[in-house]
Amino acid sequence: MYRSHNCGELNASNINTEVTLAGWVQKSRDKGFMNWVDLRDRYGITQLIFDESRTDKTVFELAKTLGREFVIQVKGTVIEREAKNKNIPTGEIEILVSELTILNTALTPPFTIEDETDGGEDIRMKYRYLDIRRNPVKNSLLFRHKVAMEVRKYLSDLDFCEVETPYLIKSTPEGARDFVVPSRMNEGQFYALPQSPQTFKQLLMVGGMDKYFQIVKCFRDEDLRADRQPEFTQIDCEMAFVEQEDILNVFEGLTRHLLKEIKGIEVDKFPRITYDYAMKTYGNDKPDIRFGMKFGELNEFAQHKEFPVFNSAELVVGIAVPGAGNYTRKEIDGLIDWVKRPQVGASGMVYVKCNEDGTYKSSVDKFYDQDDLANWAKATEANPGDMIFVLSGPANKTRAQLSALRMELATRLGLRKPEEFAPLWVVDFPLLELDEESGRYHAMHHPFTSPKPEDMALLETEPGKVRANAYDMVLNGNEIGGGSIRIHDKATQQLMFKYLGFTEEEAKAQFGFLMDAFQFGAPPHGGLAFGLDRLVAILGGQETIRDFIAFPKNNSGRDVMIDAPAAIDDAQLKELHIKIDAI
Ligand code: AMO
Repeated sequence: MYRSHNCGELNASNINTEVTLAGWVQKSRDKGFMNWVDLRDRYGITQLIFDESRTDKTVFELAKTLGREFVIQVKGTVIEREAKNKNIPTGEIEILVSELTILNTALTPPFTIEDETDGGEDIRMKYRYLDIRRNPVKNSLLFRHKVAMEVRKYLSDLDFCEVETPYLIKSTPEGARDFVVPSRMNEGQFYALPQSPQTFKQLLMVGGMDKYFQIVKCFRDEDLRADRQPEFTQIDCEMAFVEQEDILNVFEGLTRHLLKEIKGIEVDKFPRITYDYAMKTYGNDKPDIRFGMKFGELNEFAQHKEFPVFNSAELVVGIAVPGAGNYTRKEIDGLIDWVKRPQVGASGMVYVKCNEDGTYKSSVDKFYDQDDLANWAKATEANPGDMIFVLSGPANKTRAQLSALRMELATRLGLRKPEEFAPLWVVDFPLLELDEESGRYHAMHHPFTSPKPEDMALLETEPGKVRANAYDMVLNGNEIGGGSIRIHDKATQQLMFKYLGFTEEEAKAQFGFLMDAFQFGAPPHGGLAFGLDRLVAILGGQETIRDFIAFPKNNSGRDVMIDAPAAIDDAQLKELHIKIDAI
C-alpha cells in the first residue's frame, strides 16, 4: 500500500495514528536539529517533521538530501503541531516520520510550483505537467470535471443518451477550415476532423434516438483568440419532435442547474432578445447585460444641423457612461485615441458632459444647443454626472466600434464583475449572411438551419432578411452556446444548398447521405451545442479558456510541450501518398 491517507485529510482527530503518505516535496525548512518538509499531493499539504532526538539517524540524514519535487513515501505518527496553521485543513497536525523512501528524485523545476509562480506563460506551457501541480491549474481542471459531471447528470436524468460519433469524417461546414487527415488505404483521399458532430447528431434523430448529447472534441482550423482553441469541447445536444421553445426551456434549465449547483446562484427566467435588437442596442450579438450603457440612436436629433460629419453619416449613435462626467480632458483624449486605433477603427468621437446642474458641455457646442443635447441625453438615458460618447459612420461598423468602446469602458469601470452572471438568449438570427468579398450569401449558423416558415417567401427576393429558427445563449458577453431547429425534409435542404451556391452535384457529393436520410422518415428536430471550455471558464470567473484545458495549444496553434505539429518522415509521407515538394 503506497499510502493510507492523502495529504489533505489528516487533522487533530487522527493524532497518534500510524500513517503512510506519499507525494511531492513542496519545500523543506532545515534548522539543523529539526527538519520540516511540506509534502504535497492533489488533495493538499501535510507537514512532516524529522527531529534529531526522535527520528532514526539514517532517516534523519536522508531527509536532508530531499530536493524540491522529489517523490517520497513516509511512514510515521500523527502528532499535534506546536505552531498551528489555521489556513489549511491539516494545519493542526504534523507527521513525526519514522520511515522515508525516496520514490524518485527530481530536477529543480524551471519555475516555482506555488499559487503565485515566477514562471512566464511560455515556460509553463512547455512544462505543463508541472504547471498542473499548481493549485490554480489543478483546481481549474477539477472545476471543469465538476461542471461536466453535472451536465451528464442533468441530461441523463432527462433521458438524454450520450452517443459517440466518429472523428474521421467528411467536412462539416461550421464556418471554419477543416483539419484533414490523409488516408493511407485510399490514395489521394482525406478525412476531415469534425468541426462539430452536426450531421451525425441529425442522423441519430433519424435513427430514433430522440434525445442525444455528447461531450465531444471539435476541431476548427481558425485563428486563435482567448476564447478559441483549434480543438475544443462541446456539450453537443439534439432532440426530436421539438420546437424552438422546447429547446430553449431544456437548456435554460441546464444552465440554471449549473449556476445553482456550481455557483450557488439562482437566476430568473433568461431574458430573450432578437438579433436585431441586440445589434441595435449593444452593437453586438453577444451582449454583456451585467451593465447598461445601451445605445441611443441620435440621427433624428443630430442630423440636419450644421455638423457635416454627422449629416453625412448613415448612423449617429451614443452611449451614456455612468459617472464619467468628470473625466479630464486627458482621459477623454485617451479614449478618443483608443477608438481611433486600427483595431477599433473610428475616425473620431464626440462627447457630451452631463453636468450635475442639468446643463451640458459638449465638444460640438458650436453646432448643437442645450435642447439638442438634452435630446441626446434622453435617447442615451444619460443622467447628470454621466458622459455621453458619440460615434458616427456606416451603421454596422459604427455599432461594432461603439460596442468595443462599451466593453472597454465597462472593464475600466469594473462593471464586468466575474462573480455576477447575466445569461440571456439571442433569437431570430438571420438565416444568411452576405460575404462582402465574394458577394455570396452563406449560412450564418450552418446550412442545416431551418428558415422561419413565415420568411420563406423572402428567400428569392430579399435573402438577407430571412430569419432563422436559430438562437445563441450568451453569458457575460460571451457566446457560450448556439443551435437551431433543423431542416428535416429533402426538398427544403436541397433548396437551401441551392441558395448557398452549391450545384446539385456538389450538394449531393458532400451531403447526399443526409438528404438520403431525410427521405426515410426524418422527424422534426433541433438542438444546440455549448462550448464547454467557455462555459467552464466563465463559471470560473475568467474568459481565457486555455486555463481550463489540461494541454492547450498556444496562439500559433502549437503544443510547445510535445512540439506539435511536426514534420513526418519520408517513409510515412510515402505511405500516405503525399509528395511535399509537388505542392
Ligand atoms: P457553433 O459553431 O455555434 O455551433 O458552436 C457551438 C459553441 O461552441 C463554442 N466554440 C468554441 N469554443 C472554443 N474554441 C472554438 N474554436 C470554438 N468554436 C465554437 C462556442 C459556440 O457557441 N453544430 C452547431 C451547434 C448546433 O447547431 O447544434 C455548432 O457547432 O461556445
